[in-house]
Amino acid sequence: MIPVILDVDTGIDDALAILFALAHPELDVRAITCVDGNTSLDQVVANTLAVLDAAGADEIPVAAGAREPLIELSREAAWVHGADGLAETRLPASARKPVEVHAVELLRRTLADAPEPLTLITLAPMTNIALLIRMHPEVVPRIARIVFMGGSASRGNATAVAEFNVWHDPEAAFIVLNSGVPLTMYGLDVFERVVVDPDRIARLRSSEHPAEQLAGRLLGYTAVHPASGETFTYAMIGDAGAVAAVAAPELLRFENLPAQVELAGGHSRGHLIVDRREPGEGDYVAARPWPRADVALEVDAEAMVALFLDTLRRV
Ligand code: BDR
Ligand code: CA
Repeated sequence: MIPVILDVDTGIDDALAILFALAHPELDVRAITCVDGNTSLDQVVANTLAVLDAAGADEIPVAAGAREPLIELSREAAWVHGADGLAETRLPASARKPVEVHAVELLRRTLADAPEPLTLITLAPMTNIALLIRMHPEVVPRIARIVFMGGSASRGNATAVAEFNVWHDPEAAFIVLNSGVPLTMYGLDVFERVVVDPDRIARLRSSEHPAEQLAGRLLGYTAVHPASGETFTYAMIGDAGAVAAVAAPELLRFENLPAQVELAGGHSRGHLIVDRREPGEGDYVAARPWPRADVALEVDAEAMVALFLDTLRRV
């Protein structure tokens, strides 16, 4: 079993990721921490607890964390994820409360108390993780690896070059990337490729199995852009792919590449730059070497969808 902590901003695909992580036989979810991102922190906590209830997993500790990015103002993605951040599913509110400590403290304790180093899977802006690194450097060696959904080696989504999770809190992403912890990047290059087709979504929606039915409603959610009126059906397993990168890394091709977060810039702030030049190519050498990450560049999307759907049935 691989012991993991999830950091989430639930979120349609964070919900899919939680269901997948709970059901996968090789993963042992020790804690879930919540952060402002796709929707407000309070809504993220409510959504996370509701998803855990729906999965019958009410023993996993959940903590509320950062309410705002380190420096930026909060900017939600409500039009993509729906007013409740969860595809308007209006799941029954959980009777459970988050633990009484801040997410940073739950992270610290969980890392310090575990007999073995833990893998941290971050599916959201990295504010909580950056705070942990700054406040409790003594537990950083207890992190085996940070597998983060964020960035892109090609184009962005929040802006032309920046992916939402990094763009939302660039300073936090910078701290995490430069922390010295081994990194795996699950960026938009693979994130956007793992899509469930409409027939399968329809079958999930009409399933009697509660987790399948919930996944069908989440994947089938169609958002309308408030300004342009364009529609967008989620359909991607999204953040669940970053969890699959831990459970089944053989479905991806990674390259170990230099990566750095752009903090200045006007149009490029929050761009996670992946340096894909060959070694020795180019005439510019950074004064300080860039951190490196195992960057997922290709995915067997069909196999990942199959793994996701098969695993869901175990919830
Ligand atoms: C990321 O942003 C959120 O909308 C998703 O949950 C995912 O973590 C994609 O850019
Ligand atoms: Ca997310």
